[in-house]
Amino acid sequence: MPKDTLTITDNRTGTQYEVPIQDGTIRAADLRQIKSGTDDFGLMSYDPAYMNTASCRSAIGYIDGDKGILRYCGYPIEQLAEQSSFLETAYLLLHGELPSAQDLDTWVFNITHHTMLHENVKKFIDGFHHDAHPMGMFVSTVAALSTFYPDAKRIADETSRTNQIFRLIAKTPTLAAYAHRHSVGMAYAYPDNDLSYTGNFLNMMFKATEVKYEPHPVLEKALDVLFILHADHEQNCSTSVMRGVGSSHADPYSCMAAAAAALYGPLHGGANEEVLRMLREIGSKASIPAYIDRVKQGQVRLMGFGHRIYKNYDPRATIIKRVADQVFDVTGKNPLIDIALELERIALQDDYFVSRKLYPNVDFYSGIIYEAMKLPVDMFPVLFAIGRTPGWLAQWQEMLLDKEQKIARPRQVYIGAPKRDYVPIEKR
Ligand code: CMC
Repeated sequence: MPKDTLTITDNRTGTQYEVPIQDGTIRAADLRQIKSGTDDFGLMSYDPAYMNTASCRSAIGYIDGDKGILRYCGYPIEQLAEQSSFLETAYLLLHGELPSAQDLDTWVFNITHHTMLHENVKKFIDGFHHDAHPMGMFVSTVAALSTFYPDAKRIADETSRTNQIFRLIAKTPTLAAYAHRHSVGMAYAYPDNDLSYTGNFLNMMFKATEVKYEPHPVLEKALDVLFILHADHEQNCSTSVMRGVGSSHADPYSCMAAAAAALYGPLHGGANEEVLRMLREIGSKASIPAYIDRVKQGQVRLMGFGHRIYKNYDPRATIIKRVADQVFDVTGKNPLIDIALELERIALQDDYFVSRKLYPNVDFYSGIIYEAMKLPVDMFPVLFAIGRTPGWLAQWQEMLLDKEQKIARPRQVYIGAPKRDYVPIEKR
């Protein structure tokens, strides 16, 4: 009879062990019983960069990287992008189910009525240098919000957690827009509660002298879809940071500032910004082969290509390409799209990319849309952060409620010097 177990023979001792297999995993702690002698600590698994380690059980996001599948709580990303809204998707991630019409109204009302920031927040944004990167301002001001809401420390209290969730989802667009307005030297625009979540974000970004800002419905919808596509991506770098910092029971603002800092890096959410700069640097279709050669020689990375999990087309990139056409019908075509399409075509015929299963990821086309919508390049990672906020919070909440989770504390393999005696400085 087949059994859901794994038998391990330790060839050092000849001892056999049987460990249970559940959900395609063995528990690393089950290896601890495997010892070469009585003073042996026991076997550990060694997994730099967590290439093959599940750190949690989660019911939020699901990815099948070989098939190019992404689902939130079971719902295919394609259906959510087509039929849902960002706030409804946020509710789904945080509650595990789609809301009833009434629950959605209440949810949207609560988010909409937490969009204002304390006036003092403007003061620290004012303190940033005129050319401060908006992501640096975003990370710092998200962290600073924890000082305004000391009740956020009560992470075991469901009411407090819910309040912080409303605040964080509601206030991230306001913080993001304030950071942008500071960069361009414009007065901060207050939230407009008549508008949708995404419409209001565009209002806070772009409102000038008009009495009432009216977002273009196609652009508003396109940005909403982009936020949906970024809302969760299971245990990626920034989400792992959110869970890791949260595991020490820090408040959610501090956790999210840390997660946003992780997102900022060019290998993660900062890639969308780098893609745009790369496409501008390439400049023309004629220059693509030379650039591809530099990638293959290891001089540069093809930004927006490759993924730890997707070894097939990133389904988000497919949706984004469709959204791009709708946006260009309104804004006119961003000429960079032709370079991007040709770059993709050439790369996907080249054995370097084919053999390594490197396909365009979410960041390859998103920046081209943002740019067409006149969203500045250095705001791109911030846009990613707005979209990812519900996912981070859902994962943080799931971690806190998971009885198996404790403070995150990996082990190490020590490779330093053995014990040695201190040598006084005059004898070194
Ligand atoms: N350009 C050129 N070569 C690449 C690229 C790339 N973008 N990505 C991976 N490779 C090569 C890499 O050099 C390695 O080759 P070799 O086996 O000869 O050493 C092989 O492919 C495997 O790459 P890896 O670095 O071991 O893969 P990883 O899983 O550690 O990295 C990644 C994943 C996303 C960090 C990487 O593909 C990358 O740097 N991509 C560019 C940055 C990017 O677009 N990031 C956004 C990711 S999607 C959005 C998000 O979640 O943030």
